[in-house]
Amino acid sequence: MMEFSGIRSKMYKECLREYPLAREEDLKVMKKFLSPKRYEIILEVGAGSGFFSALLADLVQELVVSDPSNEQLLEVEALGRQNIKLVAFGADELNLGKEKFDAIWSFGALHHCFNKTAAFKNFARVLKKNGRLVIGDVFSGSKLAKHFDTQVARYCATGHEVAFWTDEFAESLCFLSGFEKPKIEDLKIEWKFKTKKDLGIFLYKLHAMVKTTPEECLKGAEKILGVKKKKGFYCLNWPMKILVSKKK
Ligand SMILES: C[S@@+](CC[C@H](N)C(=O)[O-])C[C@H]1O[C@@H](n2cnc3c(N)ncnc32)[C@H](O)[C@@H]1O
Repeated sequence: MMEFSGIRSKMYKECLREYPLAREEDLKVMKKFLSPKRYEIILEVGAGSGFFSALLADLVQELVVSDPSNEQLLEVEALGRQNIKLVAFGADELNLGKEKFDAIWSFGALHHCFNKTAAFKNFARVLKKNGRLVIGDVFSGSKLAKHFDTQVARYCATGHEVAFWTDEFAESLCFLSGFEKPKIEDLKIEWKFKTKKDLGIFLYKLHAMVKTTPEECLKGAEKILGVKKKKGFYCLNWPMKILVSKKK
């Protein structure tokens, strides 16, 4: 079974629609590190149901939105944007032509890709010279990896067998596929909720943790990731990293 189909995709789309402000900081991260320009052609990899795609399409000339799950992409298609093209392929199987893109953006997706060597070869082929590669994702050893491996792997409807990054492997992939040495930075993202109950429901749906309850999802998150109250919001730590490199 394709991982992001059926109940997993349905619940993923549902929680992003129900809590549109929870991931506001992720949008700021995209703008800061990708810094998209009006005249650019951008490839989004592992775009899912298009959390970034609508905003990104407003900022650039053309956006190619890719994801291996057709079901996830239906939500992007429904945006009806003229300057969005859809491609139903994973990063490792992208069949797009040479030197087409000014930049590639991917967030929270490539830990699902088990052939990152093929993915990076594809990225090098489709990017123009000096094209930017900007990847936000989960790294081994982080509290976020612990959350996925203890909570999500046990309770997600589809299981969660993934390949988290290390700085060293990312540097080797860049070296092998014709990219500059990447800059890798910690992202101190906080996802925001009006109530703790909302936070539990969001995680329950985001990861389709149907083998447990929203209350248990909240408990696990408080214990592993940490939740703080700030300016009236419950803020969940979501410690990802971001890799930025350039095609040589
Ligand atoms: C957690 S979602 C992230 C979606 C979106 N980027 C976001 O931030 O909401 C992970 C996505 O990775 C996709 N995915 C799975 N395998 C992939 C692969 N080999 N290459 C690219 N994306 C993949 C899934 O279909 C899913 O839509």
